[in-house]
Order: sequence, then structure tokens, then C-alpha cells
Amino acid sequence: MLSKHIQDALNDQIKNEYFASYTYLSMAAHCESINMQGFAAWLRRQSAEELTHAMRLFDYMIDRDAKVTLQSINKPNAKFKSLIDMFQQVLDNEREVSGMINKLYEQAINENDHATAVELQWFIQEQVEEEKSAKDVLEKLKIAGNSSSALLILDGQLADSGAAQEA
Ligand code: FEO
Repeated sequence: MLSKHIQDALNDQIKNEYFASYTYLSMAAHCESINMQGFAAWLRRQSAEELTHAMRLFDYMIDRDAKVTLQSINKPNAKFKSLIDMFQQVLDNEREVSGMINKLYEQAINENDHATAVELQWFIQEQVEEEKSAKDVLEKLKIAGNSSSALLILDGQLADSGAAQEA
């Protein structure tokens, strides 16, 4: 049985994962609107991945007989000054989520809730991956600068990176 404290924190995190998904989708919509379909494809994949994170927590709570209480999801940002600005936000958001997961993990440890701590270890590792991939794109965008041809090549690479994952 989960403590009320952990139950509330996991319900909050389900909402946070949905918000992350919504935010990526908003970014994908913006990239579609500026004909950067490769960036949009990358962001759509991230959006879908965030939903699997939410469902992983949802299923864990069900398995532990906890009460899932879904919460309202805030409106995501839809204005981006540039692709660099957008991917800086992606990285900042992922770092923020890492902080949330770490806090949750500490709560679980403090309460001797070992099962929840083990479940959260998966998320801790996942965040390392998520921060790395966001930072990789951001760094490439900085190298590309204002070069249209470099940005189009990067767009193509991001589209292909999805095809490589699916192969
Ligand atoms: Fe599920 Fe990207 O945090």
C-alpha cells in the first residue's frame, strides 16, 4: 500500500508527464507550421514517449492498489522565438522533470517505500537519456546558426533518426 503522500506525488507526476507530452505536441505543431517536418517528427516522438511515462506510473499505481486521480493539464506554451529558443526550453523542461523525479525518489527513500524507489530508478535513467538527446539537438542548432542549408540538413537528420529507431 502506498502512503497518501506518495500517492499524491505520483498523481502529480502523471499530470506532469501529460503536460510534458502536451508541451512537445505544441512545439511539434509550431515546427509543422514553419515546414520543419523533421523537427516536428522528433517532437511528436517525444510527445508520444511522455504518454508512455504517464502510463507507466498509472499502471504502477494500479498494481499497488493506489487511487489514481487525474488532474487538469495546463495550457502549453505555443510561442517560440526561434528553434534555439524552443530547444533551450526542451532542455530546461527535461531538467525540471529530472528534478521532480529526484524529489519523488527521495520521498520514497525517506518513507522506506522500496518498491516505489525501484520503479523511479527507471525514470532517473530515462531522464539522463532525455536530457542528452535534447542537448544534442540544441548544440547542433547552435552550430547551424542562421544557415538555412545547415538547418535543412538537421531537419532531415531528425526525421531519419525516427526511421532508424523504428527499423
Ligand atoms: Fe517523462 Fe521527458 O520526462
